[in-house]
Amino acid sequence: MVVGTIKTLILGAGGMLGTDLMVNFPLAISFTHAELDITDKNAIFSIIDRLRPELVINAAAYTKVDDCEEKKELAFSVNGTAPGYIAEACGSIGSKLVHFSTDYVFNGKKKEYIESDRPDPINVYGASKLEGERAIARATGKYYIIRTSWLFGLHGANFVDTMLKLGASNPVVRVVNDQFGKPTYTKDLAQKIQEILNHGYGIYHITNDGVCSWYEFASAIIPNVVPCTSEEFIRRAKRPEYSVLVNMKTRPMRHWKEALSEYLEAKKK
Ligand SMILES: NC(=O)c1ccc[n+]([C@@H]2O[C@H](COP(=O)([O-])OP(=O)(O)OC[C@H]3O[C@@H](n4cnc5c(N)ncnc54)[C@H](OP(=O)(O)O)[C@@H]3O)[C@@H](O)[C@H]2O)c1
Repeated sequence: MVVGTIKTLILGAGGMLGTDLMVNFPLAISFTHAELDITDKNAIFSIIDRLRPELVINAAAYTKVDDCEEKKELAFSVNGTAPGYIAEACGSIGSKLVHFSTDYVFNGKKKEYIESDRPDPINVYGASKLEGERAIARATGKYYIIRTSWLFGLHGANFVDTMLKLGASNPVVRVVNDQFGKPTYTKDLAQKIQEILNHGYGIYHITNDGVCSWYEFASAIIPNVVPCTSEEFIRRAKRPEYSVLVNMKTRPMRHWKEALSEYLEAKKK
């Protein structure tokens, strides 16, 4: 399948990943949050029925992990129920769906997770994203669910930018050294979709290569960082200790350190 030749609809096009997807699908029809609320079932059905895309890519989500703890209803509505509407609408006209999920569907007790491992989320965000995965699978068989982790990209708030800001305005920055994962550049992830579309339907784990702690990640961004524990840095949502996604289905992507260097260079321009 060649991307430019299939009629594509991108939802959540104004987000960090959504903006990079637009670069890779330049002919796609796209909707930002302001243009289409994915929790509006009638609007979803009417747009998909009218436009009749062959491929729908949903990059819309409620991604504020800590806020999800208080805004449970909103989290489940956007991340859980709405993907089911999109999948149902796709199913009704036979289009394929690409949807993004998260490493936070796992409890983090195992050191690594392959695609077939059993999810067991420990926070509301993870639970709402898992509900989204399940709602999609109930509604259509023609889906690619791409679980990814620790995203950074040029078009949204992310950990790298937070570190740059904190590092410039504080003598030292304390960062947890007991949560491990795989940082992922949204540009690399967006470019990978084409390859995944040539594989079978199902769940994919797609990240940059290499595992690190948040402290190790921060140390690659700024010099003035010191390690601390999760107990010293309490947050509203619990985070898994290990949320290392292992990709058993496609070629590995480049190492996160190489992607980070390119990102930092791109930010200077
Ligand atoms: N960021 C990460 O580290 C990370 C890690 C793992 C997985 N993921 C997943 O990757 C995907 C992309 O994440 P991202 O980092 O690009 O997130 P993002 O920058 O927060 O983008 C999400 C977009 O969805 C929009 N949105 C929120 N509610 C909506 C609604 N009801 N209807 C339509 N649009 C809505 C947001 O608009 P507003 O900003 O205007 O609300 C935003 O433009 C998501 O599925 C996320 O769960 C992200």
